Amino acid sequence: MPLESAKITIPDAKKEAVAKLQIPVHIGVTMDGNGRWAQARGKPRTEGHREGIKALRKLVEYAIQFDVSYLTVFSFSSENWRRPKNEVEFIFKLLRRFVESDLQKLHTNNVRIRILGDREKLEAGLQKIIAQVESKTASNTGLNLNVAFNYGGRAEITLAVRKIAGSVKNGDISLDDINENLVAETLFTSQIPDPDLLIRTGGEQRTSNFLVWQSAYAELVFLEVLWPDFGESNFVHALEIYSSRQRRFGGIEAVS
Ligand code: FPP
Repeated sequence: MPLESAKITIPDAKKEAVAKLQIPVHIGVTMDGNGRWAQARGKPRTEGHREGIKALRKLVEYAIQFDVSYLTVFSFSSENWRRPKNEVEFIFKLLRRFVESDLQKLHTNNVRIRILGDREKLEAGLQKIIAQVESKTASNTGLNLNVAFNYGGRAEITLAVRKIAGSVKNGDISLDDINENLVAETLFTSQIPDPDLLIRTGGEQRTSNFLVWQSAYAELVFLEVLWPDFGESNFVHALEIYSSRQRRFGGIEAVS
């Protein structure tokens, strides 16, 4: 079922829950465990991804209800090309379906959608759909939903280095103009604040090339739950862990 075009509301009970928590401005989520979820049920891995889309729809609703400003989800990494062709094709189909069939509801809910990643390697039809979805939602001012697709952190940094080196070579900038702000502004996440919290489901405790530059000071929360089973209690649990952490950004005082 695609998201309906109705407006997502915030029940009073949820407003109270939000008031007790520190809400990160930007949450990144690695939606891991779809394959294991399917295999445990004797189903093909693709069924796990199909269920994964449903969990993603719920996540977007929680993010809106809990007043998160930026949500970035890792949905296909540059390394995922190594998977069997049918699985890769299935994930591509899901992306297309997600951005097409859910667009109206996301737009109604004032969600701005961006796709982060190397889109030149995607087929022309998909590139066109991505451009349309981004431009249709560009002036929305609610949740910023970033879908990392054909995304890899190292590839992103490498691309930025090439662009900056090109600008130096052309004489547009000098070596002295290269600083952290320029690098940050040359990444796919230009204009997007760094993530405060990274959540990874599926029990693995690594970041796997997700937001490598941007997550330098992010709090990391690893959950055992497999992505298709991710629900509101897991989301709240991650926020509770985040709320209990002291963020110092290299200093000694807690920063909230
Ligand atoms: C990781 O689980 C998940 C992925 C590589 C794909 C994530 C995709 C979705 C949640 C649905 C598609 C969403 C969009 C927007 C395209 P895994 O397959 O690595 O699971 P495993 O670790 O159990 O094998």
